[in-house]
Amino acid sequence: MNEGRSALVTGAASGIGRATAERLARSGWRVLAVDRDIDKLAWTEGSTGIAAMAADVASEADNARMAAEAEARFGGLDAAVLNAGITGGGSIDELSFADFQKVIAVNLFGPVLGVKAVLPLLRKGRNPAIAITSSTMGIAGDSGNWAYGTSKHALIGLVRSLSRELGWEGIRINALCPGPTRTGMTGAMETIAPAHYDLLTRQVPLQRWADPDEMASVIEFLISPAASYVNGHAMVADGGAVVGTGLLLPASGAARAIPGDGAT
Ligand SMILES: NC(=O)c1ccc[n+]([C@@H]2O[C@H](COP(=O)([O-])OP(=O)(O)OC[C@H]3O[C@@H](n4cnc5c(N)ncnc54)[C@H](O)[C@@H]3O)[C@@H](O)[C@H]2O)c1
Repeated sequence: MNEGRSALVTGAASGIGRATAERLARSGWRVLAVDRDIDKLAWTEGSTGIAAMAADVASEADNARMAAEAEARFGGLDAAVLNAGITGGGSIDELSFADFQKVIAVNLFGPVLGVKAVLPLLRKGRNPAIAITSSTMGIAGDSGNWAYGTSKHALIGLVRSLSRELGWEGIRINALCPGPTRTGMTGAMETIAPAHYDLLTRQVPLQRWADPDEMASVIEFLISPAASYVNGHAMVADGGAVVGTGLLLPASGAARAIPGDGAT
């Protein structure tokens, strides 16, 4: 069903973006994989259906180059996956305004510039759709993560607002809100901060972190004709973590224990 469709994926060097580019290519999509650093896209060499290019999503000029490359390769675009993002931890006292601006530049201005750049191409596409990677931190707040959380909440506002605007043209836009996923962004936590890693795992009823491909499959659904009536939605894929209040212990303590750590 997706054979020959074209997609652009940002943040494709690693994690969820890479898994998405790989999954789409396996399903027959033609993919333009974009990331800051071309060297990190070396994994695309020799792959079928994936072209790579370096671009900084926070730069308006780079977004224009990205769209021009997609147009030259595909003539238009059927889907854009605006996924690149950075972390930005720190309390309101710790994190400087300049660091906050860096987070907003990539996580919020990036997708805004991306949508503006690719719209003319999507208008030429078949069943055109945009997916933007937000986060469960776009649904709920957490301590020490206000800059990232603010950027990810704003993306859901962007998606809901643009769904009302672009739906009239037949262009769908949705957000994915991943829960804890093992990627370049989070991968080191298991070894550097094992206690925090275990704590996070315990918040997830499924008692594990996601594999990036479990996010890629949701993105593929959101941009494919299989989701033809899904528009303006923030789809949470978090193993059930954010639907809890966190105020009460689970009915069975054992269900939350991490094997070997003595927790109940
Ligand atoms: N991993 C998680 O647990 C998790 C949870 C919720 C949301 N997310 C979101 O998922 C998205 C993908 O993150 P990931 O976990 O795969 O992390 P990752 O670090 O593995 O991948 C992010 C990619 O984005 C690229 N990138 C960063 N800034 C860029 C820029 N200015 N221009 C171009 N590329 C840039 C990085 O080089 C990297 O390859 C992000 O938006 C992140 O906020 C991740």
